[in-house]
Amino acid sequence: MATNGNENGAVGQENINTDIVTLTRFLTEEQVKVPEATGDFTLLCHALQFAFKSIAYYIRRATLINLTGLAGSSNTTGDDQKKLDVIGNDVFIAAMKGSGKCRILVSEEEEEAIIFDEHPNARYAVVCDPIDGSSNLDAGVSVGTIFGIFKLPDDILGPQASVTAKDILRPGTEMVASGFTMYGASAQLVITMKSGNVNGFTLENSLGEFILTHPNMQLPAKRAIYSVNEGNSAYWDEWVNAYFHSLKHPGEGGKPYSARYIGSMVADAYRTLLYGGVFAYPADHKSPKGKLRILYECAPMAMIFENAGGLAVNSRMERLLSIQPEHIHDRSGVFLGSKDEVQKVIDTYHKHKK
Ligand code: AHG
Ligand code: MN
Ligand code: MN
Repeated sequence: MATNGNENGAVGQENINTDIVTLTRFLTEEQVKVPEATGDFTLLCHALQFAFKSIAYYIRRATLINLTGLAGSSNTTGDDQKKLDVIGNDVFIAAMKGSGKCRILVSEEEEEAIIFDEHPNARYAVVCDPIDGSSNLDAGVSVGTIFGIFKLPDDILGPQASVTAKDILRPGTEMVASGFTMYGASAQLVITMKSGNVNGFTLENSLGEFILTHPNMQLPAKRAIYSVNEGNSAYWDEWVNAYFHSLKHPGEGGKPYSARYIGSMVADAYRTLLYGGVFAYPADHKSPKGKLRILYECAPMAMIFENAGGLAVNSRMERLLSIQPEHIHDRSGVFLGSKDEVQKVIDTYHKHKK
């Protein structure tokens, strides 16, 4: 009997689905839903898609073509740059410049915002962490790319207008889209548009296409998993220690939480999106402002988590998406995950701050 893509075939038999939704098709269908769309956003996303595929390709081949190890430089926030940090950054800049649709680009690896004056009518600003989790690269552990997209106001369009880095110092609520990739056993892409669903795609290497495999991702409302670098606990505020202590010592009849920490935000966030739980990188006495960067790490993830039914707050329990950075590389504490789990963080904070 013939089976179509949705029926179970024999074990080991591949079901052939001839009507797959690629990222290209998905973006085209989304564009059609917005009658006033010019197609610029779709073209920008095609350029992003190419950057993701290229970075995925270099990461897969890194050990074979001498791309492991340090580049011998450090970035603006003082981190040692890996060779792949530099390549990922170069790939991203070239893709954004080449798209003709990007006016401003902020990258973790660039001290200053890059202003593409050769495209004065480009309407979009992009923020990115080209390779997140790069300390994990040489061990073959999952890393990824995080990005956010802002649409610039009309009054800074055109050759007469002057555009500066200040034009991208906006809260995450003003992003039109955000997402991240994770280069793991396969390359995954998670993307969301403002107030839209969260959709997950998997890179099919032979076709070279991202395929929609996780439509309308929704976080479970709760799950007993926490993800944090517990080695920092000596630096944590008392309430942070109290919160994590309560997860491990739930009292009579309660079951302690499981700990899972990869050390790549993209991988920890991806697992949290799928399974639920809480991911945290609190501000602490060593890093009073937090470690993760607002524009290109916290805000894009916060938009994904909120749109998937979760919550995302900073170390003062403010909504992460409403935080406006003062500088492009500003940092923040972060707690994101399942609604009920993040609510527990908020409740513990208020109990201790009374
Ligand atoms: P990046 O590689 O872009 O500098 O980011 C690393 C980040 C993030 O991926 C992760 O959650 C966190 O740093 C891990 O930090 P620790 O090693 O301090 O746990
Ligand atoms: Mn990062
Ligand atoms: Mn990085």
